Amino acid sequence: YEQAKGEAKDFLHISDFDKATILKILDRAKGVKELIKSGERTYLPFYGKTMAMIFAKPSMRTRVSFETGFFLLGGHALYLGPDDIQMGKREETRDVARVLSGYNDIIMARLFAHQDILDLAKYATVPVINGLTDYNHPCQIMADALTIIEHVGQLEGTKVVYVGDGNNIVHSWLLLAAVVPFHFVCACPKGFEPDEKTVEKARQAGISKIEITNDPKEAVRGADVVYSDVWASMGQKEEAAYRRQKFEGFQVDKALMQLAGPKAYFMHCLPAERGVEVTDEVIEASNSIVFPQAENRMHAQNAIMLHALGL
Ligand code: CP
Ligand code: NVA
Repeated sequence: YEQAKGEAKDFLHISDFDKATILKILDRAKGVKELIKSGERTYLPFYGKTMAMIFAKPSMRTRVSFETGFFLLGGHALYLGPDDIQMGKREETRDVARVLSGYNDIIMARLFAHQDILDLAKYATVPVINGLTDYNHPCQIMADALTIIEHVGQLEGTKVVYVGDGNNIVHSWLLLAAVVPFHFVCACPKGFEPDEKTVEKARQAGISKIEITNDPKEAVRGADVVYSDVWASMGQKEEAAYRRQKFEGFQVDKALMQLAGPKAYFMHCLPAERGVEVTDEVIEASNSIVFPQAENRMHAQNAIMLHALGL
């Protein structure tokens, strides 16, 4: 899953970039966010540019934040839903990549198999941005990092405790931890640990403290952030009932937040299943920052696209 650091034309994994680049993108996100929020509408770096957005899965945040962000900075984005181009079914990925590269300046894709986004990026001559695969979700974790910087003050040294399934979100946290130093803990049920190679990669980078545990109560102590995601991801919804049994004890509720301590924020990439992986009370509490977090998807991605387009 690797491209040489510094040479990546695409944004597929956070670990394809060095620390300075990741921090620069996050800083840019802050700046462009301020500009957009001030009502400024004359900064149009994407003027005359188009983006193709390929969605093989449903989405609210990713679709709306990419489309809106690209428009607010002067460009035009096209939404291609699951029934439209049917990449890999109606047409081979490598053909889609080259055809879209002829029309568009940038491609964003949300796909099932990670190999598909690697193939898309390999054959596209324009930058490809990963809008989630079964393996990872880098734009989400860039937005999360921005949110932590805004609320906690900095990412470095922060203790982030993820409670739930060792899924695509966890892989992106691990790949961020391979680049920027912080303390990342994943508390998941036995058998639902993140990909071993990715854990190893993050540990071997020697940048962050990484812990994988099956004990959420112990894990959350002293957390700056307690983070949750659905137990059954897109593509696993038929396993939902089975997973609810396996994940007993992993719901983020008020008691778990109290164990974390008074400084802990609650984060969730959304969509959330209230009453399953997190209680309604925790999402609605004053230390829940899930909506600023969702908003930051747009700001983080704007900066990612500016970087990818060399602007
Ligand atoms: N968090 C996130 O990616 O949300 P969507 O699935 O709605 O895009
Ligand atoms: N792990 C979830 C994240 C959704 C944004 C999924 O893949 O469905």
